[in-house]
Amino acid sequence: MDWGNELTRLLNVKYPIIQAPMLGVGTPQMVAAATRAETLGSLPLGDLPAEECKAKIQKTNAISKQPFAVNIFVHKLPEIDDSLRKDYKETRKFLEKLASEHQLEVDFPMLEEIKLTDYHDQIEVIIEEEVKIFSFTFGNLDSESIEKLKRNKTILIGTCTSFKEAKELEASGIDIICLQGTGAGGHRGSFDEDDHSEIDGFSILSEIYEKVNIPIIYAGGIHNAKTLLAVRDLGAQGFQVGSLLLGSKESNLPEFAKERLREAKDEELILTKSFSGRSARGINNTFIKAMEASGNILPYPYQNKLTKALRKSANTNQNTEFLSLWTGQVLPEFSGTSTTDILKHLISEVNNYKPKPQIN
Ligand SMILES: Cc1cc2nc3c(=O)[nH]c(=O)nc-3n(C[C@H](O)[C@H](O)[C@H](O)COP(=O)(O)O)c2cc1C
Repeated sequence: MDWGNELTRLLNVKYPIIQAPMLGVGTPQMVAAATRAETLGSLPLGDLPAEECKAKIQKTNAISKQPFAVNIFVHKLPEIDDSLRKDYKETRKFLEKLASEHQLEVDFPMLEEIKLTDYHDQIEVIIEEEVKIFSFTFGNLDSESIEKLKRNKTILIGTCTSFKEAKELEASGIDIICLQGTGAGGHRGSFDEDDHSEIDGFSILSEIYEKVNIPIIYAGGIHNAKTLLAVRDLGAQGFQVGSLLLGSKESNLPEFAKERLREAKDEELILTKSFSGRSARGINNTFIKAMEASGNILPYPYQNKLTKALRKSANTNQNTEFLSLWTGQVLPEFSGTSTTDILKHLISEVNNYKPKPQIN
């Protein structure tokens, strides 16, 4: 297959395959390994404080010879008012009880102790460190940030989950769209958590391809030649793979969590707001069931900040029943080999692909 297209030129890679940004899973080593497969590596920075972003970018620069993308969360923060204060107290109390019933020692933060990241500080670091490819999710950047990054000749990749969001990204001057299909692992990148599209990614992809004039990366369920070629036929020029790399050598997931993923069954997959306050796809467990039944889920990022200590304790105790284990609707084998080998295998599968004869 001839892989060269507008994206390979814009991103300066041989293959328009993107190692998905995955906060908590992606590492500088994973980015470097993706670039060794001549694909684009993405360093997830989520809502990490600016100093941590800087250290991670510098570490990645030290081990990766090729340019890479960085990825952050652009979320509009809800105001702290009396109603949020009251809900926070209740959810915190509920979690304290739940943790102690399950022998988990957790020190849950008070609302006043929570530190939130302003994405503008992260952008300052990204410009300072001269990162030239920048992707974001959970919303669109404000126009000043877009202008600033463009003056710095940064290529901008905006995540969307609907036709409306894709049009908004295009109108604001974003260079590339990353369309996240409904089956994608991890958080849905919708702009508005309470108004997100349920339309299947394939339907949106063909519509965006017809009516939006910037290149499209597709994310969600790409795990072999057939799925990659199917989204290419619908108009995608780039192919973002996440779940396929969760078990890899460079994934930050501990071995017990990788094992849990390898045992997962389709019927265990769920879309839930219970860990963060935003919808995310992963494996159902005791925590999700209890949290959903409580009806006490706070809005993002407060739910996320509140459950962080619980997830940390579950990790220390190797307890997958209280850990967020995100993965997409298609469960791959979660190979434990290197990210480079997994991506090279995907490329070679596409290059040697022979369609199955049609049944007459
Ligand atoms: C564990 C995990 C963490 C993720 N974290 C992020 C993130 O930090 N930023 C982001 O834009 N997308 C994130 N995503 C979504 C991926 O970038 C991508 O859209 C998705 O993995 C594609 O679907 P797939 O998992 O079926 O390949 C995450 C996905 C997973 C599985």
